[in-house]
Amino acid sequence: MRIEPFEMERWQSTYEHQVAYNLSESGVHPLSTRELLALPGETPAPSQRQLLDIRLGYAQGNGAEPLHDRVALLYPGSDRDNILITHGGAEANFLTTLELLEAGDHVVFMVPNYMQVGGLSDGWGAEVSPWPLEEETGWDADLERLGSLLRPDTKLIVVTNPNNPTGKSLGEKFVEGVVAAAEKTGAWILSDEVYRGAERDGPVTPTFWGKYDRLVVTSGLSKAYGLPGLRIGWAASPDKKKIERLWSYHDYSTICPSPPMEALATCALDPLRREKILGRTTEILRTNLPIAVEWAKEQGARFSFRPPDAGAILWLRYDDKVGSLDLAERLRKEEDVLIVPGEHFGMDGFMRIGYGGTANELREGLARVRRVMDRL
Ligand SMILES: Cc1ncc(COP(=O)(O)O)c(C=O)c1O
Repeated sequence: MRIEPFEMERWQSTYEHQVAYNLSESGVHPLSTRELLALPGETPAPSQRQLLDIRLGYAQGNGAEPLHDRVALLYPGSDRDNILITHGGAEANFLTTLELLEAGDHVVFMVPNYMQVGGLSDGWGAEVSPWPLEEETGWDADLERLGSLLRPDTKLIVVTNPNNPTGKSLGEKFVEGVVAAAEKTGAWILSDEVYRGAERDGPVTPTFWGKYDRLVVTSGLSKAYGLPGLRIGWAASPDKKKIERLWSYHDYSTICPSPPMEALATCALDPLRREKILGRTTEILRTNLPIAVEWAKEQGARFSFRPPDAGAILWLRYDDKVGSLDLAERLRKEEDVLIVPGEHFGMDGFMRIGYGGTANELREGLARVRRVMDRL
């Protein structure tokens, strides 16, 4: 078994704190602890004193009851045994693929995508068939194409909805189509829904929860909630035995959540506070997207793109001949700004720009990107 480096995460982990302008993030400007605690909730936020008195011992391995109960509210009909609290959505994805896949299994993987699950599937020795979203149709999913990729031995179908990097939110027809396809072969579905709730306009993206039994939904507080530093995510499945299995792997990976982070996550998922947080996210997206779109349009035919439905990410095709890795390196070295090259999603000629930061930061970062591109 050999897991290849996760190029995008290597790039971000290495440089995102080293640049003056970080446009590589896919979520919104994170909340501070103070801002989180100041938000109104149905139940009071922990006081400073309560936070300071949290014992820094090992927590309940699968997640403490108060957090479990709040996450369960998001998945109607679920109880604590349907949910494992993890170290970010990333750990939930990691454990799910570890449990579901064996060497030789066949996986259908939506692309472009956050490449973690594709890389892991490869690493566990599975055969991965990419299922491309289509640029010509505004990054829609072709369900007939999915049908043609499925095989009797397809073990897993992997989708990310809303999608990273396109920001596309796929609707009910998509969910029904994927479920119908999975039913034919008995494949599992791994639905990464970490951007759900980060819609800029329009309805909340439909979940796979409640639509299929051989399902794991992964999610967390990093994107729609603007709380990636809490490192709190989860896996939810109708199949309690699967969740138990994921927990047994979690004993090998991170053991348990961190108690202070769990307390803050429980606070964030208070129903009223959650609504306020998601409202803040929408407001940031609505304020900032026009800045990025105007910037791109000012440059005429240089870029083609479809504005995202969700997530603080703009996925741009650019018309210069320069490779996206070279371009990203030049941006970093010449103008101290970080973007994600399309190459990290297997799509050269594209770049992903995160527009969820402060408006001033975004304006200056974009001006710097333009300066480099003008010099090409
Ligand atoms: C689709 C998707 N899933 C999971 C993750 C990892 O998120 P977390 O911070 O919850 O581990 C990301 C991060 O960019 C992502 O884009």
